[in-house]
Amino acid sequence: MATERTLSILKPDATRRNLTGKINAVFEEAGLRIIAQKRLQLSQTQAEAFYGAHRERGFFKDLVGFMVGGPVVVQVLEGEDAIAQNRKLMGATNPANADAGTIRKLFAESIEANSVHGSDSAEAAAHEIGFFFAGTEIVG
Ligand code: CMP
Repeated sequence: MATERTLSILKPDATRRNLTGKINAVFEEAGLRIIAQKRLQLSQTQAEAFYGAHRERGFFKDLVGFMVGGPVVVQVLEGEDAIAQNRKLMGATNPANADAGTIRKLFAESIEANSVHGSDSAEAAAHEIGFFFAGTEIVG
């Protein structure tokens, strides 16, 4: 296993319910380090670009609307096997299918308001980290 970095987003349903600290505690207790973090209000253009891979999906418009509906916290997590580890901690996209103890089982409201996003591959992680952070903002 190698030390990796992954992009994580705490979504508007999580910031609205004041869950930033509780979700960050899950990451830190699992050994992931939060090496960059900022709270942002995404613009429509940013949200559409970030989720560009889903542009043709039926849920795209609603997803973008949801993501601009309140503040998000974007962060870089670092650790052993961080990309897969974060996806395991998050649980299935749809909280109805998420394993007990995962962030989405604990906190998500629906498949759309599912509290967190995490990069799904090394390529996506590199792209998504660069989307939100300058190198100087990441302090490992
Ligand atoms: P995320 O990991 O941020 O990547 C794309 C998001 O689209 C996903 O989490 C879900 O929150 C959202 N989404 C909304 N509806 C669906 C759906 N029907 N299938 C998959 N993802 C969906």
